[in-house]
Amino acid sequence: MRRQAAPAAGGRSTLRSLGAPDSWSDIWKVSRETFAPAPARPYRRAPMDHVAATLIPLTEVDPAMIEALLDRAFGEDRHTRTAYKVREGTDWLPALSFAVVDENRYLVGSIQVWPVALTDPQGRRHPMLMVGPVAVVPERQAEGFGQALMAATFSALDPQAPLPQVLIGDPEYYGRFGFHAAPTQKWQLPGPFDRHRLLVRSDNPGVLPDEGTLGPWID
Ligand SMILES: CC(C)(COP(=O)(O)OP(=O)(O)OC[C@H]1O[C@@H](n2cnc3c(N)ncnc32)[C@H](O)[C@@H]1OP(=O)(O)O)[C@@H](O)C(=O)NCCC(=O)NCCS
Repeated sequence: MRRQAAPAAGGRSTLRSLGAPDSWSDIWKVSRETFAPAPARPYRRAPMDHVAATLIPLTEVDPAMIEALLDRAFGEDRHTRTAYKVREGTDWLPALSFAVVDENRYLVGSIQVWPVALTDPQGRRHPMLMVGPVAVVPERQAEGFGQALMAATFSALDPQAPLPQVLIGDPEYYGRFGFHAAPTQKWQLPGPFDRHRLLVRSDNPGVLPDEGTLGPWID
């Protein structure tokens, strides 16, 4: 089945179809053969207008390739990070998680979104979305792929009732998308973290609890 590429909402992005593969599994067959190890490419900063890439649902990607991408972006010890504890036991949400493949059909980036909850001091659980990891392979960073992945997730949020989005990341990067640390100053996580890196994005910050502990949303 021919799938429609998700809309690219990033300003500099020109995400377009790779052509006419018979099926996306063909792309991943090619990628599986060539992704690990990815060919070394010199770092380059290209205007995104000249980059051909395709945004696709993350469900189309072999899980092993996603793991390899995350290992390259964050290191193989990434599983010990507190972010993993926050979402422990949950699965990423298919409707909000995306990948980018480049003009050579390599997997160059991914974004995952997880169901989490902030439990306030009264024991009430406030559902939220945990964004991340957002990862782009080192040799293709700073070309706009990260911003395109973020835009894809934002576009897929329910416009009627978008849940607050949280992440642990660099405010210097994620601030451009509307994430900030001010509302999270009294929030707790199930592990160590830098308080200035616990960020939230919400259309209605007034409804965010002042205090609470972030953890997985498990019914
Ligand atoms: C963070 C990451 C997802 C960004 O994706 P990307 O495709 O490289 O970035 P984009 O092309 O969308 O954006 C590039 C811009 O972001 C800035 N940027 C990228 N990473 C940044 C960071 N960690 N802190 C501050 N700014 C950052 C670049 O300097 C560039 O700025 P400019 O537009 O003003 O020139 C990607 O670099 C990555 O996977 N890095 C490895 C993991 C990591 O370091 N994460 C740290 C953040 S949690």
